[in-house]
Amino acid sequence: MSKPKILVTRRWPEAVETKLSEAYDVTFNEADEPMSKDALRQALSEYDAVCPTVSDTIDASVLAVENPRTKILSSYGVGFSHIDTDAAKKAGIVVTNTPEVLSECTADLAITLMLSAARRAGEGERELRAGQWTGWRPTHMIGTKVSGGVFGVLGFGRIGQETAKRAHHGFGMKVIYYDAYPVAPEKAASTKAEARDSIEAVLKEADVVSLHMPGGKENYHLINAERLAMMKPNAILVNSARGEVVDAKALADALKNGTIAGAGLDVFEGEPKIPEPLLETNAVLLPHLGSATQSTREAMGWRVMDNLEAYFAGREPGDRVA
Ligand code: DGY
Repeated sequence: MSKPKILVTRRWPEAVETKLSEAYDVTFNEADEPMSKDALRQALSEYDAVCPTVSDTIDASVLAVENPRTKILSSYGVGFSHIDTDAAKKAGIVVTNTPEVLSECTADLAITLMLSAARRAGEGERELRAGQWTGWRPTHMIGTKVSGGVFGVLGFGRIGQETAKRAHHGFGMKVIYYDAYPVAPEKAASTKAEARDSIEAVLKEADVVSLHMPGGKENYHLINAERLAMMKPNAILVNSARGEVVDAKALADALKNGTIAGAGLDVFEGEPKIPEPLLETNAVLLPHLGSATQSTREAMGWRVMDNLEAYFAGREPGDRVA
């Protein structure tokens, strides 16, 4: 029997590419750039499985293809708001993701953003490299102390919990959270995290607000001008979730006006294009590096392979989301 034909929309870590190529008839997108909707549409007619990433938009217009050959979209990443899961279901296509394996690294990155924004690491480095540092002085580049403060988590899933652990155990922060879904008490136990009954309650109380909810329509511009105005003037906003959760223009205004003190962002609406107003602020901006470590990127690849293997063996893939 011939091997299933698989399209991988980006280059992956070498070890995973090698194993995948042994098991399947694989095509890698050698250009290693986001694929156009037309190319993705075409792929759904040609391949048994497609393995996309966050930067391949597989919306209803892509999934409208008639009689797709593709039976599974095995996405490389935990977030799947780049795939219209309702349209995939209608087209009879299974969708899987890669949860758990990237929680620790993404939490590490969220803490990197918190500290960099609070202690003005980006601004400091830019000043130094520009040859503008005139030497130590007591009033130079004063930041915000986060140790012992209140760490607010919006979206208390795996990554939110891992980030809370670092903030609580590493920096002695009190953790508060809001999640739209019920959270089992044991998930909050190790950080003594206290639930709040609304997003607003977290925004008003926290010194640092870290976003960990999914992207997509349901959370589009959840953090807008009105909600930013509820935050403390010394507060820091961290976004390692999805760019569209934050209204970038409103955030840029809030930073310029001193409504909040700083922001650390790893994700952007419409990335890799960065919303212009943000470039004029003191925000720390990173190019979507949350899961970017060798072991994590390999683990994500193995997880995609597990899902493919289950599907082609006629079993239910462990990470099915649609
Ligand atoms: C994820 O896994 O969701 C990361 O943001 C990369 O896609």
